[in-house]
Amino acid sequence: MTVVLAIDGPGGAGKGTVSKRLAESLDWHLLDSGALYRLVGIAARKRNLDLSNVTQLAEIARNLGVQFRVAEAGELVQTWLEGEQIDHLLRTEKAGSDASVVAAIPEVRAALLQRQRDFAVPPGLVADGRDMGTVVFPDAHLKVFLTASVEERAHRRYKQLKEQGLSANLRALREELEARARRDSERAAAPLKPAPDAWVLDTTGIGIDEVVAMIRERLDGVLSSRESK
Ligand code: DC
Repeated sequence: MTVVLAIDGPGGAGKGTVSKRLAESLDWHLLDSGALYRLVGIAARKRNLDLSNVTQLAEIARNLGVQFRVAEAGELVQTWLEGEQIDHLLRTEKAGSDASVVAAIPEVRAALLQRQRDFAVPPGLVADGRDMGTVVFPDAHLKVFLTASVEERAHRRYKQLKEQGLSANLRALREELEARARRDSERAAAPLKPAPDAWVLDTTGIGIDEVVAMIRERLDGVLSSRESK
């Protein structure tokens, strides 16, 4: 069975950066499950669909024509949706809040389940999301629930958006992050919550390098106890 490291938590807790860094250093695969929900929202907007149209949203999720390509120049991953490169749309707050709305629909989640599990191939997988440890990979070898205060999460998101040249407003970001975490936590289908066996890591005031090192240390412990069995 492929080794899976599940990293869940609310937006802005650092999951994306931490997961990418760990996958790179381990030379493992990376599943950015949030991108799949973002893509469903983007595809729906392109078709001028209402985000309450459950039947059509589930249909989109089932047939999502997505490709993650590694750019020839280096490691940069490009995201293609139905023949169009859509990276400029993927990380916006609009795409995030649309994703949170479509992600509350059980039929959409069900349609994306196997697609996510298919990412678990050797040598290992770092899976980043909201329900990696609870629903998608309940047998993950290590489950981490990354969190941080809402102030810190808003600051991190702000910095990240600015670095990407996108516009950002700190107050609006904080409100959006709070609303999104509430919607993600209160939904009936696969709500955002730590798995009972997850390691809850509050990263408020801890730098990204240290967070990566802490997780790596714990993962190495899990891997070596697995080898000695
Ligand atoms: O991680 P992210 O910001 O790209 O996720 C966008 C939204 O997608 C998030 O607000 C909730 C949803 N999501 C989810 O419900 N389950 C996941 N495994 C990943 C994301």
